[in-house]
Amino acid sequence: MRVDEGNVEVKVPEQDGDSVGDEVFFNPVQELNRDVTVAALRAYREREPRAETYLDATAASGIRGVRAAAEGWDVTCADIDEDAVDLCRENLARNDLDGSVIHRDANPLLHEDYFDVVDIDPFGTPIPFVDAACQGTRNLLCITATDTAPLCGAHFHSGVRSYSAIPRNTEYHAEMGVRILISALVRTAARYDVAATPILTHATKHYVRTYLELDRGATAANDAIDWLGHIYHCEHCLHRETEQGLLADPPAECPNCGYGIQTAGPVWLGPTCDDEFVLAVRDAVSEEMGTADRAVDLLATLEDELPVPTHYDQHRLCKRWERSAPAMDDFLAALRDAGYEASRTHYGGTTFKTTASVAEIREATGD
Ligand SMILES: C[S@@+](CC[C@H](N)C(=O)[O-])C[C@H]1O[C@@H](n2cnc3c(N)ncnc32)[C@H](O)[C@@H]1O
Ligand SMILES: [Zn+2]
Repeated sequence: MRVDEGNVEVKVPEQDGDSVGDEVFFNPVQELNRDVTVAALRAYREREPRAETYLDATAASGIRGVRAAAEGWDVTCADIDEDAVDLCRENLARNDLDGSVIHRDANPLLHEDYFDVVDIDPFGTPIPFVDAACQGTRNLLCITATDTAPLCGAHFHSGVRSYSAIPRNTEYHAEMGVRILISALVRTAARYDVAATPILTHATKHYVRTYLELDRGATAANDAIDWLGHIYHCEHCLHRETEQGLLADPPAECPNCGYGIQTAGPVWLGPTCDDEFVLAVRDAVSEEMGTADRAVDLLATLEDELPVPTHYDQHRLCKRWERSAPAMDDFLAALRDAGYEASRTHYGGTTFKTTASVAEIREATGD
């Protein structure tokens, strides 16, 4: 089957629902992820003009590498599957593009060689690739994680094992996943005296995607570690607070309702995007992208999203408080009128972030 995406045409195995069995993997649903990747590569070249080489480390059909090569990147596609490697070669040739294609395990490759930008888009968790990627990446590490249930605490033990952290299954589950993932990536990078700073991150219920800018040096790595900490969450009234530092010191009970507190962490408590970069990525989205409108909407929402570590769902709060949910804009305006910052989030149409506590939200938006 032929697929047109962005400026390229690639051959991929015939699709049968979500599963392709033994065939080389291709997921049409990830087109938004790939369009944003191409826009991020364009924006990153402006930010770091020295960057030239791009490794599509888990390439499958090579669609990411082919699209990067069409943007002028010096591309290497790698995969452990021989059929995938053949397909990558065919897809580069089909588009008359140069690039090297290698039948290699990404881990030894990243221990032996350096690339300016490395893209890890594996099945499930990216963790098995991160040690090597921290060694073999000079500038930008692009990472997808599709194991959202472990990341958000729905598969608790699997999340603990993969991410060496405690995830909690809260109503801001996708953001819990984002912050557990980035925490593990930052801690892994720090082991090699590398600071990993997220400059663009987005999440859906299917995956988390984050772009980390790497900076070498012990001081920078210490500064990154300083953004790690814990979320103290009350399941009863949805109060939550956060504390930076690797040692958790949760309150004995919820300061809002007196029930017990759940602790999640270490999580990343810092910003998950760099607003300037997000704006540049939005400007780099172009018409030929199949998901251009969605990508622009997503990036505009990310740009406006407050950098506070958790979000709320307006409908859930209103249901809990036995109120009807007002229009989202009116709801946010009420919070702002009461002196708090408030924004929508990309996690869902009824989600928002605010500097108000749950008790303050209830009061500010009450009748
Ligand atoms: C989810 S697919 C990649 C999808 C592709 N990036 C896209 O956008 O369509 C994951 C790929 O990683 C490959 N893979 C798994 N382990 C690997 C390893 N250790 N080194 C390199 N490739 C690996 C698999 O063979 C598979 O083709
Ligand atoms: Zn409470």
